[in-house]
Amino acid sequence: MTIYLVAAIAALAGLLFGFDTGIISGAMLFIQKDFPLTTLMKEFIVSSVLLGAMLGSIGTGYLADVFGRRPVILVISGLFILGTLVASLADSVAMIVLGRFCIGLAIGVGSYTAPLYIAEVSPLSIRGGLVSLNQLAITIGIMCSFIIDYTFAGTEASWRVMFAFGIIPAVLLGIGMFFLPESPRWLIKQMKMEQAKKTLTYLRKTTHIDEELTEIKNSLAIRPMTFREIFSPWIRPVLFLGMILGFLQQLSGINTLIYYAPTIFQLAGFQGESSSILATVGLGIVNVLATIFAVFFLDKIGRRPLLLTGVLGMGLSLFCLGLTFHTTADYLRYAAIASTFVYIICFAISLGALLWLLVSEIFPLEVRGMAMGVAVFNCWFWNFVVSSTFLTLVEALGPTLTFFTYASMCIFGFIICYYYVPETKGVSLEEIEAHIRQGLPLREIGQPLREDYPELTPSKQTSA
Ligand code: BGC
Repeated sequence: MTIYLVAAIAALAGLLFGFDTGIISGAMLFIQKDFPLTTLMKEFIVSSVLLGAMLGSIGTGYLADVFGRRPVILVISGLFILGTLVASLADSVAMIVLGRFCIGLAIGVGSYTAPLYIAEVSPLSIRGGLVSLNQLAITIGIMCSFIIDYTFAGTEASWRVMFAFGIIPAVLLGIGMFFLPESPRWLIKQMKMEQAKKTLTYLRKTTHIDEELTEIKNSLAIRPMTFREIFSPWIRPVLFLGMILGFLQQLSGINTLIYYAPTIFQLAGFQGESSSILATVGLGIVNVLATIFAVFFLDKIGRRPLLLTGVLGMGLSLFCLGLTFHTTADYLRYAAIASTFVYIICFAISLGALLWLLVSEIFPLEVRGMAMGVAVFNCWFWNFVVSSTFLTLVEALGPTLTFFTYASMCIFGFIICYYYVPETKGVSLEEIEAHIRQGLPLREIGQPLREDYPELTPSKQTSA
């Protein structure tokens, strides 16, 4: 039980990630009533969080290594509170942007440190499941933000109250983290053996922890690679895969929906703010349900069938969404809503749950931390690019062509996933690593190793 509580508290960082990125979708409709906003300003209010997240994700690995995971998460809960206060009390657009940037920094640091902490305190047997729980926490955060948006739409000072709700999970994260122990793995790395033993005994509720302690010590004996080394030829294919998946996740347009859904519904013909935000709430709920489905079935159905079906479905539904803007028939606005629902289900079972899972599985141990940092940064970067250009694209090309563009990215994604993404269901991390060391095509992961292939050790490669 203890471990679930510990993971749930740390997952509040994921919930805040979802909440603070999602809340803007409804808030924007009301901010623009208080302050006259140009398209560029709207995009900047949305993307200031992403700019912060991008910057935050750069230094986070270093901070978590030097100061420990726990203090870093405590600091981000403070940053969440500070940023939320500044944004909700703002009397100018600049202050909203500043507050949201501060929240973004916290999200960026948290999107790496919190899953790392969860993985390090969990026993091996449930580690994989807990990684997917992080995505679930993100979607629950998004859903809560949409519900808050709906509840307070139309009340006075609505956007301020919407933002302010983010303080609750941030305070809970701070209080909870205050009582949680440091990661035993980090303690061992710092040679604080006595403290590490005490923490493991507390987390596992048993004094039989010697085996796990030895395992952690052994894994720490592996020399982590330097930043340069992660670009060595044998790592490149997996690094490429991690980066291309992040690129596809964002360029398939998911956050145009998460951040701008009510605006899109208004474009599709829903007049009132409340009805378009209500449709958005439905989107948030369906996103959570489909993610729960994915968490349960990724290990049963396999990653590839879900990924390929999902990405193809995303492409088709975006194509339909684009078409609904092409003609003005009234019933088409319902077709627009239906397309977004199909799209979000397809995203949740494919690129949503799978990006974070695959990224935590495919990198060999000695590059895992650093390569995950690069992959997280890459994802925020593309998120920023898409979110800060969406409205401009709609103005320049019109909604039909804009959604067709994202649809074509999904078709491109389908081809890439078909040829490059391996099936890692039931394959141990060690087997995955052995394949990568042999320099075999990634698609062959899970198939028997080839005997005629020499092992490409990192030392052979880098000295070549
Ligand atoms: C993505 C976010 C997105 C969320 C939607 C995550 O996997 O990284 O950008 O907002 O899914 O559920």
